[in-house]
Amino acid sequence: MADSNKTATLTFGDTTIDLPMMSPSVGPDVIDISKLYGKAGVFTHDPGFTSTSSCVSTITYIDGEQGELLHRGYPIDQLAEKSHYLEVCYLLLYGELPTATELEDFEYRVTRHTMVHEQMMNFFRGFRRDAHPMAVMVGVVGAMSAFYHDSTDISDPWQREVASIRLIAKMPTIAAMAYKYTIGQPFEYPRNDLDYASNFLRMCFAVPAEDYQVDPILSRAMDRIFTLHADHEQNASTSTVRLASSSGANPFASIAAGIACLWGPAHGGANQACLEMLREIGTVDRIPEFIARAKDKNDPFRLMGFGHRVYKNFDPRAKVMKKSADEVLDLLGIDNNPTLQVAKELEKQALNDPYFAEKKLFPNVDFYSGIILEAMGFPTSMFTPIFALSRTIGWVSQWKEMISDPGLKIGRPRQLYTGETRRDYVDVENR
Ligand code: SDX
Repeated sequence: MADSNKTATLTFGDTTIDLPMMSPSVGPDVIDISKLYGKAGVFTHDPGFTSTSSCVSTITYIDGEQGELLHRGYPIDQLAEKSHYLEVCYLLLYGELPTATELEDFEYRVTRHTMVHEQMMNFFRGFRRDAHPMAVMVGVVGAMSAFYHDSTDISDPWQREVASIRLIAKMPTIAAMAYKYTIGQPFEYPRNDLDYASNFLRMCFAVPAEDYQVDPILSRAMDRIFTLHADHEQNASTSTVRLASSSGANPFASIAAGIACLWGPAHGGANQACLEMLREIGTVDRIPEFIARAKDKNDPFRLMGFGHRVYKNFDPRAKVMKKSADEVLDLLGIDNNPTLQVAKELEKQALNDPYFAEKKLFPNVDFYSGIILEAMGFPTSMFTPIFALSRTIGWVSQWKEMISDPGLKIGRPRQLYTGETRRDYVDVENR
């Protein structure tokens, strides 16, 4: 534990209390308030958790001021350039980059868990064809706990390991099935001779009527998108997974809760919302109108793909994504993509506007990802399922870290109650 010899002194009214502090390997110190209520009879209050540390973790570190993102100490731009998604999965899950043998074994195990139970196909048929794929993923991933009973006992390290591999392996298959179902095409089975990203692309775009060759350019771009979305400290959906599984809920139900949270447009749903916004803007000459709306306190409109709770500088993932967007569109021969032109001009005008500078609002991971995904042939409704697929390793790694902690307690926040004080029931005839 990151104990420290520092203490914080809190004084209010005629109460003074010393609170222990804890020091990180990097980042801000924390004040341990876990005993505050017992000692002083007061709660702290932080509804959006803007200043609250919820756990001790060794997985991902973000420096919002510097725009830095480290996975087990390795910078995201180096991982995006030099590594690949399954190697990053190994790093996040086990803490170190794998040797060649370790990586080969891990890839072998994941590859051979990519099929889902054949009966799970029946779940899809219960949805309307026009159901959002995220609704399907929430339902089907939650239903995994009805099929994989031999990996739901979280007290058994072996079952935790099997559940982790199953979730990493089967999420692309489930996401591809959700997509195929919405477009009325038959499901495609995974293939063991393909790498993770190529397998997903083929399951999405292959049809029985003809062979499908995965374009290596698209496969590399897909893999990089997976890597850029893999984990991100204690974001809303990861915190949801931690809170859900703190009750002892099985890993499939807990990850389904994370998928549900990610769906929101303020979180993982922003990539879909951002592309829809760029399409609504349509042309560069309409950008000032939308920037004015984003600045108008009376208008709920926000620039999707802009701003971040932690990054008060460029989101390092957005930088890599922007470079990848240029490369992918160029390699696909999609010159002068109007959406990309609008995105680049919007970014330029927003970053030169005092409002965004003062509030430290920069493009985030969702600003460019949709442009690449659209160029790759995905409908906007598949953008957030791809985010969920990518983030599964983050959720699983954080879940495993929490569940393995012998000091685990169920998460149970308190509140500031401002409702009615005690009063007696009034019979209806006397109201
Ligand atoms: C993700 O947490 C993570 O790590 C998430 C994520 C991950 O990998 O898990 O990084 C993925 O969710 C990225 C964020 C995707 N969401 C969007 O792009 C939606 C648009 N962005 C905003 O809704 C907003 O920026 C949030 C939700 C991302 C962050 O909101 P905060 O931290 O609660 O900040 P805030 O709402 O208090 O905003 C601070 C100020 C406000 O103005 P004032 O009330 O101070 O006058 O900035 C303004 C906001 O109105 N503001 C924006 C804005 N974002 C914030 N104004 C216009 N456009 C925006 N996008």
